[in-house]
Amino acid sequence: MVNLSFSKLLNIINPPMITLSISVFLTFQHLFTIGVTSYDPEENFAINCGFSGSGNFNFRDWTGDNDTILFSLFEPHNHPSIPVDSPLHSTSVYQVPYSTARVSRYKFSYVFPVTHGHKFIRLHFFPASYPNFNRSNSLFSVRTGSYTLLKEFNASHTADKDNNPQGTVSREYCMNVEPVQMLNLTFTPSSTHPDAYAFINGLEIVSMPNDLYYTETDGQGLIPVGLNSQMYPIENNTALETVYRINVGGSQILPEQDTGMFRNWDGDVPYVEEQHNQSTPSGFGSKLKDNGQNDTAPDTVYLTARNYGKNATSKYNVTWQFEVDLGFFYMVRLHFCEFEQEIQKPGERVFQIFKADNLAESHADVIMCTGGNLIPVYKDYVVSMFSKASLKKLTLSVKLQPHPNEKLRAYNDVILTGIEIFKVNDSDGNLHGPNPNSSRSTPQLSEPLRKSNKMNIVPIVVGVGSGVILLSLIGFLIFGRLTIARNSRWGKSKSRKTDESSLPLDLCRHFSIREIKAAAKNFDELSLLG
Ligand SMILES: *[C@@H]1O[C@H](CO)[C@@H](O)[C@H](O)[C@H]1NC(C)=O
Ligand SMILES: *[C@@H]1O[C@H](CO)[C@@H](O)[C@H](O)[C@H]1NC(C)=O
Ligand SMILES: *[C@@H]1O[C@H](CO)[C@@H](O)[C@H](O)[C@H]1NC(C)=O
Ligand SMILES: *[C@@H]1O[C@H](CO)[C@@H](O)[C@H](O)[C@H]1NC(C)=O
Ligand SMILES: *[C@@H]1O[C@H](CO)[C@@H](O)[C@H](O)[C@H]1NC(C)=O
Ligand SMILES: *[C@@H]1O[C@H](CO)[C@@H](O)[C@H](O)[C@H]1NC(C)=O
Ligand SMILES: *[C@@H]1O[C@H](CO)[C@@H](O)[C@H](O)[C@H]1NC(C)=O
Ligand SMILES: *[C@@H]1O[C@H](CO)[C@@H](O)[C@H](O)[C@H]1NC(C)=O
Ligand SMILES: *[C@@H]1O[C@H](CO)[C@@H](O)[C@H](O)[C@H]1NC(C)=O
Repeated sequence: MVNLSFSKLLNIINPPMITLSISVFLTFQHLFTIGVTSYDPEENFAINCGFSGSGNFNFRDWTGDNDTILFSLFEPHNHPSIPVDSPLHSTSVYQVPYSTARVSRYKFSYVFPVTHGHKFIRLHFFPASYPNFNRSNSLFSVRTGSYTLLKEFNASHTADKDNNPQGTVSREYCMNVEPVQMLNLTFTPSSTHPDAYAFINGLEIVSMPNDLYYTETDGQGLIPVGLNSQMYPIENNTALETVYRINVGGSQILPEQDTGMFRNWDGDVPYVEEQHNQSTPSGFGSKLKDNGQNDTAPDTVYLTARNYGKNATSKYNVTWQFEVDLGFFYMVRLHFCEFEQEIQKPGERVFQIFKADNLAESHADVIMCTGGNLIPVYKDYVVSMFSKASLKKLTLSVKLQPHPNEKLRAYNDVILTGIEIFKVNDSDGNLHGPNPNSSRSTPQLSEPLRKSNKMNIVPIVVGVGSGVILLSLIGFLIFGRLTIARNSRWGKSKSRKTDESSLPLDLCRHFSIREIKAAAKNFDELSLLG
């Protein structure tokens, strides 16, 4: 019955949608055939708010929130929220979850039974005039636990400003749920505006691997850039908001094409500095070597990049510019993969990386770090965006230039395949930025002191060695040593397990143990240590 209402919508109103789904399906199949193993999230709620029943859309089961027992809705008995249909004049309303919404002038909460661990929370909004709810009057906050995700959020303003042709707004957050905690998402209309109401079209709660973005207990954290501070761990009490997730040199990767976590990856064209837009994507159909890093990013992220072209003589920074809110720390993850056949050895493509015009890597050499071609790798940095100027937005730039010392490199070139930027919650648990046209915003003028809770030394021990690991290690030692030397932080490696010989892997940061373990497993016949 319910499935019917979905297909009815699709068939009658918008037949081309079916074709779209089929082509998406083919792409999806294709991804699997080139070897993506997908993460299978323990929790995978996709909630179509204001809808009754459930249905499959884009390979996902979307559950209506009007008559489900999977989770609960708490609201005042005398002022229940209202399930409504979206107005029919926009093209986006035919798509799940934007075709219906839940609206209310009173506070309402969704409470989800979830297991403990790290979760994505995604909120989807289609600001429109719903029956008796004028588009321009939506103004509300969204809280979960001790975090404020959105505050005095004007959805129509946000949609208009973002210039999104479909007029929809989506937000993604990452947080940790402690054992026996429920996940409570509360929508509260603003009390500053007489007709203010809250609404929501779609909600997602999706588990993620515990080491995907959070620093593991024995992990090191992010490399500080332009900060006189220690390594910066992303601990369980941190909440993150995804502000950009970019497939460099490539095009959008849809949620259903992600590695099982339904993340959206955008193309990088809007962010590349225009005068340098001749830096072209290099697309290669090659297959990545399986190093166990199978859920960090889809293979397609690692197989497109921007660079100068190896014969170029240009001297400029390949530059991406990202507008961010003032007054926060940002976690910046860069994804690399050396996929050009000509580049096989350390010292061939050596470059420098700047974040917000501060040197982040003085000697980046992907082959040196991975030990070979077609092996993906990522590195995490923390950048602070505080300013004394009375700005609300700042530009966080990522710049790459070839190493200035020509003797240290064979090619005048750089490479980058992916960028993810997350906002880190402030000391009050806020993730919301300053609001437009509001005097309520009080951006912090100077950087708060961050208490560092521990020496972040990674004692990683790998029991099984391999040719690849040893090779990589040599790279790690050098890549790691340079960064570490700059930050004057040397680590002494400790054994994680008792009897295993200890390799000083702490010198190469930001390779999760999972990757190293998996790499070791894949090559254990080459064991060197046995
Ligand atoms: C990733 O790869 C490793 C080793 O190849 C495998 O054990 C693991 O299950 C894979 N992870 C996912 C999420 O498929
Ligand atoms: C929501 O559910 C109630 C009770 O199950 C039902 O009476 C109502 O028609 C539903 N509303 C919508 C919009 O489907
Ligand atoms: C952080 O949370 C994860 C998942 O809930 C858990 O496995 C890990 O032990 C926690 N770390 C600490 C230091 O509590
Ligand atoms: C919504 O409010 C604006 C300004 O208050 C008004 O111009 C507009 O006609 C209203 N729209 C509807 C559908 O009532
Ligand atoms: C939301 O923003 C729009 C456009 O900027 C504005 O017209 C409207 O008054 C704002 N709504 C509220 C409730 O502040
Ligand atoms: C959810 O959180 C809100 C706001 O913090 C609170 O008022 C409400 O009682 C909570 N509901 C449940 C069921 O925990
Ligand atoms: C590059 O920038 C120029 C203007 O500076 C613009 O006309 C052109 O379309 C851009 N090319 C691409 C591929 O974005
Ligand atoms: C780059 O230079 C090499 C050696 O000089 C040459 O063989 C190759 O064809 C050039 N490639 C391009 C794209 O110009
Ligand atoms: C690249 O950007 C950095 C940081 O802003 C700057 O120091 C450097 O001179 C730039 N390089 C070139 C070639 O413009």
